[in-house]
Amino acid sequence: MTEQEILSSLRTKKFGRTIHWYDTIDSTNNRARQLAIDGAEEGTLVIANYQTSGKGRMGRRWEAEPGTNLTFTLILTPQIPAADTGIIPLIAGLAVAQAIESVTRKRPVCKWPNDILMDGKKVCGILAESVIDGTAVRAIVVGIGVNVNQTNFPPDLGETATSLLLATGERYARTQVLAAILGQFESLISYLERRKRDEFLKQYEAYTTMIGTAVTLTHSAGTANGIVAGIDSEGGIMIRGADGKTSTWYAGDVSLISGGLRR
Ligand code: BTN
Repeated sequence: MTEQEILSSLRTKKFGRTIHWYDTIDSTNNRARQLAIDGAEEGTLVIANYQTSGKGRMGRRWEAEPGTNLTFTLILTPQIPAADTGIIPLIAGLAVAQAIESVTRKRPVCKWPNDILMDGKKVCGILAESVIDGTAVRAIVVGIGVNVNQTNFPPDLGETATSLLLATGERYARTQVLAAILGQFESLISYLERRKRDEFLKQYEAYTTMIGTAVTLTHSAGTANGIVAGIDSEGGIMIRGADGKTSTWYAGDVSLISGGLRR
């Protein structure tokens, strides 16, 4: 996958039109953060064949075999208040899910906040980080890791990770998957506009199986058990507890309560 191959497969106006390509790098998010501080423009793509210190959410690592997967970061520079940016990772998640569906003809599931699952296993993770300048958000770097053609996962991930190849039995050209994601992400980014949030949530909820299911949310501030009542317009998950009260969470991990009720 060369820079030239990427450029010739893109159908976007801005996303991916400036490319920083690396064979090996620590983390594309780290590099993108520096580029954003240096003034990189919206849509700049940082992509690597292999990351030595790929980062996951909540301080975890992101491990991906060299040469078979997609590990990249897109720089966004939205001119909106910091408080409005929480929806961006969900927009990215929906874009990836729809892109995967268009390429593989198999529909993935979005697991709040932004994991993409196929056959109940994770095929993509997203780590969005804000680049703050004083009190203003200078940029949001959206890091996306998609397992494309990897077939072996370390024992600790084997039960929970999959790839497009494992989920469909077919190999995919990484450039084709990347171009589909960037195209879909560029067309969905208009959902950042406040007046379009309801329409976004309708689409997002069509890709998630969580609404109405019993979950446990784990967060550094504690845990919440209850039924998922929906996603709010800031990207938070609303959980209705046994006492009937609904709490909204903007970070954390959710897991299904097995044998839990669907209401
Ligand atoms: C998660 O599911 O915990 C998020 C994983 C995000 C991984 C991607 S790979 C490209 C980008 N660079 C990183 O260091 N992380 C993200």
